[in-house]
Amino acid sequence: MRFFTRTFVSATLAVFALTSVRSEEAAEIQSFVDYCAYRGVNLTGDHWLEASCRNDMTAIFGYNYSWIDLNYCVGNNGGQLIAYENGIYSASCTNCGIDFEMKTLMLSCRCPDLDEREAASALDLNTTIYNYNGSIGCFNQLGNKTWRRAP
Ligand SMILES: *[C@@H]1O[C@H](CO)[C@@H](O)[C@H](O)[C@H]1NC(C)=O
Ligand SMILES: *[C@@H]1O[C@H](CO)[C@@H](O)[C@H](O)[C@H]1NC(C)=O
Ligand SMILES: *[C@@H]1O[C@H](CO)[C@@H](O)[C@H](O)[C@H]1NC(C)=O
Ligand SMILES: *[C@@H]1O[C@H](CO)[C@@H](O)[C@H](O)[C@H]1NC(C)=O
Ligand SMILES: *[C@@H]1O[C@H](CO)[C@@H](O)[C@H](O)[C@H]1NC(C)=O
Repeated sequence: MRFFTRTFVSATLAVFALTSVRSEEAAEIQSFVDYCAYRGVNLTGDHWLEASCRNDMTAIFGYNYSWIDLNYCVGNNGGQLIAYENGIYSASCTNCGIDFEMKTLMLSCRCPDLDEREAASALDLNTTIYNYNGSIGCFNQLGNKTWRRAP
């Protein structure tokens, strides 16, 4: 991922140099746990994830609150939570919560397997979701941005 990021940045700079008329630089994809603050992270209704994430206004150490629907990011594969685009895990998994374990953010739920037996399952969200200029994202989906969390 780090390698990808550096490659991405070099490619961006190369394109930027060629098209010097462009005044905006593209933002980078950054790791969720490194760029979204732990404080203020919350999960609502089993699938709405909210966090405060740094944006590229580095001069003011800018951040935004962002929400994403984790149904865009996670699926239930035979009782196991997996990273899956538009997986809509909350259609079958229940009792979901988030937890910081080993410095990463884990999503855990109870999910039915193919025989409808429910078991506990967990997924490291840092492998699936990312920070993009203050918005939480996964796959090609970006969450919304706001100054303050919803009351
Ligand atoms: C990054 O986010 C800031 C704050 O919302 C915004 O002003 C800026 O235009 C964004 N940059 C890009 C490349 O989208
Ligand atoms: C989170 O993911 C990034 C890559 O996207 C990785 O560099 C970082 O080590 C991960 N952090 C943890 C605590 O797993
Ligand atoms: C976090 O979400 C739960 C619902 O899952 C809600 O009851 C609680 O008030 C929220 N906490 C904060 C600090 O917003
Ligand atoms: C995001 O945060 C920046 C400051 O870091 C602020 O200027 C901008 O208005 C915020 N964006 C939204 C949509 O609230
Ligand atoms: C972002 O999404 C959350 C969850 O749907 C919503 O409560 C909040 O109002 C939205 N914020 C903005 C600025 O659209």
